[in-house]
Amino acid sequence: MNNISVLYSEEELALSVKKLGAEITEEYKGKKLLVVCVLKGAFVFTADLVRSIDNDMQIAFITAKSYVGTSSTGNASISGDHDFMGLDLREWDVLLVEDILDTGRTLCELKKKFASMGAPSVKIAVMLDKPSRRVADITPDFKCYEIEDKFVVGCGLDYDERYRNLPFIGIVSE
Ligand code: XMP
Ligand code: MG
Repeated sequence: MNNISVLYSEEELALSVKKLGAEITEEYKGKKLLVVCVLKGAFVFTADLVRSIDNDMQIAFITAKSYVGTSSTGNASISGDHDFMGLDLREWDVLLVEDILDTGRTLCELKKKFASMGAPSVKIAVMLDKPSRRVADITPDFKCYEIEDKFVVGCGLDYDERYRNLPFIGIVSE
């Protein structure tokens, strides 16, 4: 078992997600909102966030993977639900929900993909933003916290598939 110290407690994070949900509710009033959860890491954040957004919406899932252990492989592979329930994306404002924005390669690719399908807007909501590691030209539209260059786990984030279930966000030390 690795040593894990708490960075954001369950309670702190819950408050932050509620605040973000209220902001997103305002932003998408009167629009057709499609929330796209980027699996696996965003499953916990998405579940919490959508329950704090008071708008009509649909929810889709897509899978992206770029990390092995604590290192980015440098290329994001995307798979999963590609027909989005048969929706015509030209009618939907897309909100990509991701656990963490790191180099930005994954979200950059996903953003291009949804824009190319004609979505009128493609925005990004993340639990954590690690701007110091950015390679791609991308910033989150909505975020809970900005963090330093530390490897974090919990609330969906994993270390080789472990710790996704932790109710807080923690820093791993080996
Ligand atoms: P990019 O680099 O494309 O990658 O922005 C984002 C994805 O990288 C993973 N990632 C992490 N996963 N702790 C994790 O558990 C971290 O500190 C971390 N940093 C990046 C994550 O899967 C995210 O979706
Ligand atoms: Mg991820």
